[in-house]
Amino acid sequence: MFSFLSKDQQTGEVAERQLDESNIPAHVAIIMDGNGRWAQQRHLPRIAGHKQGMNTVKTVAKAASQLGVKVLTLYAFSTENWKRPTAEVNYLMKLPVDFFSTFVPDLVKNNIRVKVMGYTDKLPAATQQAVQDAITATQDCTGMVLNFALNYGGRAEIVTAMQQLAQRVQAGDLAPEAIDEALISQHLMTGDLGDLQDPDLLIRTSGEERLSNFMLWQVAYSEFVFMADHWPDFDQTTLERAIYAYQQRHRRFGGLTNK
Ligand code: FPP
Repeated sequence: MFSFLSKDQQTGEVAERQLDESNIPAHVAIIMDGNGRWAQQRHLPRIAGHKQGMNTVKTVAKAASQLGVKVLTLYAFSTENWKRPTAEVNYLMKLPVDFFSTFVPDLVKNNIRVKVMGYTDKLPAATQQAVQDAITATQDCTGMVLNFALNYGGRAEIVTAMQQLAQRVQAGDLAPEAIDEALISQHLMTGDLGDLQDPDLLIRTSGEERLSNFMLWQVAYSEFVFMADHWPDFDQTTLERAIYAYQQRHRRFGGLTNK
């Protein structure tokens, strides 16, 4: 039984809540927002927020795995984030190197397998190497998949999938009528996740309520939970609160019966 203390965001009332262990979302995706604001509130440079955010990734990955989440997808760097000041971009590119150089043994201990989705060939060589080493070091882990979206954009992902399908049609390998939702899903960067491709729960921290080009196809039926907490303050209890909110929803997938 997973129980946790929940503080009502409006009334401040604290209550003990219990999670339904039979209804843990299999795929949780998180838009980790608010690193900059967290740092600003403490009169620290923005990169201090990203550093703390990286530590939060460690805490939350372990917590999600222990709760029974099967795939945890984290939006770490978008195709639009290159527009940030060079020093901040450089720091964000260095984070995976720091992260994996300190955390891979813990990932293996927790049976967590690393996956990355995005245009990783455009990342600096050292970042690509760190990511590749982490994938190799965890390739035999059979527990949760920790999926980093790195240089990822939802529209770009769909464009790439369409180009691949068009090439197959042009080569005479695929009939246009054979293109269906399942085939498009398979050509996206989550295609290798089988029936876990689509997030059940999408969380965005820091009070913003938008998708920012994240998993546009895959979130068609996801439950969205928006939280006020800045990402560096996110922890196991915040994750449990989000899952509790998810468990109060009635998923009907366009039909009439709850699933
Ligand atoms: C959004 O906050 C956050 C990011 C663009 C970067 C997210 C990266 C991490 C949390 C660390 C990732 C760790 C690894 C291991 C890759 P923001 O900077 O937009 O915050 P703001 O909206 O308050 O300015």
